[in-house]
Amino acid sequence: MWVKALDSAPKEGTMVEVELEGKDLFIAMNNGCLYCGENRCPHEGIKLTLGCLKDGRIRCSLHGFSFDLATGESSQTDIENMPIYPIKQENNKIYIEV
Ligand code: FES
Repeated sequence: MWVKALDSAPKEGTMVEVELEGKDLFIAMNNGCLYCGENRCPHEGIKLTLGCLKDGRIRCSLHGFSFDLATGESSQTDIENMPIYPIKQENNKIYIEV
């Protein structure tokens, strides 16, 4: 089910927090692409929006591990991948499939 999350995309290099269908998510714009993932680090659970975006990855602010924005793949083999969600833009509005 696609759900409207934002009325416009975040600016390049930024991310915003959204709560949809009981899930805490982030929406990020990195290198011109939109991404959505769970806003909770798979390592110890802090918000990933406290971290930063770089080269297609989101880096956690607490211990510095990072996750691929497109696949959710963790930089550490012993840490779970980050859940990701399909995202699309239509008429400027941003939709997430949850
Ligand atoms: S809590 Fe995110 S890397 Fe440790």
